[in-house]
Amino acid sequence: MSEGVFISFEGIDGAGKTSHVEALVQAFRDAGRQVVQTREPGGTPLAERLRELVLHQPMDALTEALVMFAARRDHLGQVIEPGLARGDVVLCDRFTDATFAYQGGGRGFDIAVLEQLERWVQSVDALPAGRLRQPHLTVWFDVPVDVAARRVAAARSPDRFEAETRDFFQRVADGYARRAAADPQRFARIDGAQSREAVREQVLQAVRSRGWLA
Ligand code: TYD
Repeated sequence: MSEGVFISFEGIDGAGKTSHVEALVQAFRDAGRQVVQTREPGGTPLAERLRELVLHQPMDALTEALVMFAARRDHLGQVIEPGLARGDVVLCDRFTDATFAYQGGGRGFDIAVLEQLERWVQSVDALPAGRLRQPHLTVWFDVPVDVAARRVAAARSPDRFEAETRDFFQRVADGYARRAAADPQRFARIDGAQSREAVREQVLQAVRSRGWLA
């Protein structure tokens, strides 16, 4: 049986990750792997309900952080851990780095509290005590805030995050950069401002270089 592989995809709103996630799902399936395609917040019936709330209902920053981690806990237990235990490839549109970037960077919420929640939520039975479940690879679509903002402006009825200011997204981008600097082995930084074809090639290269695709 193959080892499970856990890959997350990150970037500010408008970074353009969605179509590339789809392409990677197809590439893994073509290589004969079972793929679980999922997202955060969401991925389970409960977490999808929490997603609806957190994207549309006003709430304070602590509530927002707790909802993100509550959704994550359910998602880990119901979808991510079972998938990895089966040896599947789990491709997740956003994971904990988004909480550090959006709630930590964007909202300015206390990073030490987020780290505590991360320790509680990402401690899982399959790993020895003290080790946290993290993606094996995080594909980070890094694009200038202005480029991303132009793409988001074209979208209809923005949610609570998409409606945020340019300064907010600059702080989110800085939050991603800090997480990437703290764990450079896990992160593959993709220059998302390039052509779609060039971005696609960078994403495939990041996965191939880890030996998961030929
Ligand atoms: P997104 O992944 O961009 O989905 P779509 O492409 O359908 O809009 O939407 C999720 C939003 O939630 C995005 O604005 C980032 C935000 N978010 C957080 O603020 N914290 C988190 O921990 C996660 C997972 C997402």
